[in-house]
Order: sequence, then structure tokens, then C-alpha cells
Amino acid sequence: MAERPFIVGNWKMNGTRAMLPEARAIDRAAQRQMKVEVALAPPFTLIHAVHREVEQIGVGAQDCHPAKDGAYTGDISAAMIADAGAKFVILGHSERREGHGEDDALVAAKIEAALGAGLRIVLCCGESLETRDSGRAEEFVLGQLRHAFAKVVDAGERLTIAYEPIWAIGTGRSAGLEDIAAMHGAIRRLVKDSFGTQAAAQVRILYGGSVKPENAREILALADVDGALVGGASLSAESFLGIVHAAIDDDAA
Ligand code: 13P
Repeated sequence: MAERPFIVGNWKMNGTRAMLPEARAIDRAAQRQMKVEVALAPPFTLIHAVHREVEQIGVGAQDCHPAKDGAYTGDISAAMIADAGAKFVILGHSERREGHGEDDALVAAKIEAALGAGLRIVLCCGESLETRDSGRAEEFVLGQLRHAFAKVVDAGERLTIAYEPIWAIGTGRSAGLEDIAAMHGAIRRLVKDSFGTQAAAQVRILYGGSVKPENAREILALADVDGALVGGASLSAESFLGIVHAAIDDDAA
């Protein structure tokens, strides 16, 4: 685990202003400890409101458009989300890749735009069940990352990677500990080969896919797991903070 684990809540398409008390409760708990970095990625419509409500936690977006501005009805640029208070953006999530046809080239263009706007990125990768069953999961995931890395100028702390096997997202069934450990180890080696030893120590590699308070501790205890990207369990302060506390306890152990 990294010196300072990173626990990120991805609210996906959930949340109205009625959720702001949850963000406040998460922030208050985060203020009482500095060992774990905590962040939320609410939908675009709540970025500014959450940013105004919280003091300690980071606020990010779940996507951005690769262009700076222009005639792109319904899209939001990296500069706009930064202006709303976002400090990072999740890119390449499988729900964007699958539901919106985002390919590696588009994800790479978004990385360039986000870094150019001064944002940190949480870059997602992960294989389908079919790819895992065919024995090509590692090759597939490292391929996704190689494409993305071509646009990463300054790895270090600005880059976070989230390994999210698609079949583990929202299913209640997280990946096996051995599979998570093997994939995270392979990702760490790729970061080292691509950006050097210092970057490999700084870049945090999160696991995502059915992380909950009940399984967080054993997942976060794995050597190359530096935190978690949490979907469903980030929608209530109680369950999200259960995961944050698992990271603190593991750190103390
Ligand atoms: P769940 O935690 O709901 O499985 O979602 C994981 C995820 O996709 C986070 O980005």
C-alpha cells in the first residue's frame, strides 16, 4: 500500500443536492485523519456544490471532452470542470468505453486535455469476463495503459491508475485477491518501465469493482493496491467511511 492511500468515490449518475449531507459527513470524517486521501467524483451538476460544501476531501469529475471549447452540444471541457472546482477527472471508465464507444485514442486525447487544464487523472483500465476467461487479461489491460501513457507527460502524483475488471463492477463480486495482486504487480512494472522508478513509487494504483466495507481490508492489504475506486458503496457516508477506515487500519497494521 502507498504511503498515503487514496479512496475515491465515483457517484456515477447518482445524486442531487439532497446528497450534499453525505458529502459533508464524508468530509468531516476525512478532516479527523490525514493518513488517507479521500475524494468524491459526483456528477457534473454537483461538482460546484460539493466543492463549496467540503474543506478536506478532493472533488473530481467522471469525464471530460478532449476539446478546449466549441460546438459540442451537451459536452463539458476539462477547463470547465476545473473552473467548477474539480481537481481531478476519471478517464477511460468501462462505462464510458462500453456505453459511449470510447476507444483508446479518445481516452488518450482526453488525458492530454485534462493534464493541459491542470487536472490530475484517475485512469481506468480493466478487462471483460470474456477476455479474462481467454487468459489475455494482463495483455489487454497493459495494452490499454500503453496507449494512454503516450499522452502522460508527468506521471508522478498527477497520475492515478484504477484497475476495474468489468465483470466485478456493480455485481457484488469483487475479483479474487490473487488476480488483483497479479494485475497490480504487472501494472506497477509497466509504470516503472515507462516512467522510471520514482514514478513507479509515486503513481497510486487503485482497485475498483464491488469494494465494500466487508472486503476492503483484505483488498487494501495487497502489496500493490494503493487505494480503491468505489461506486455503489460511496453513495452513503456510512459505507464509504467503512472503506476509508479499512485503509487507515491497514496502514496502522
Ligand atoms: P462498484 O463499486 O459499484 O462495483 O463500481 C465500481 C466502479 O465502477 C467505480 O468506478
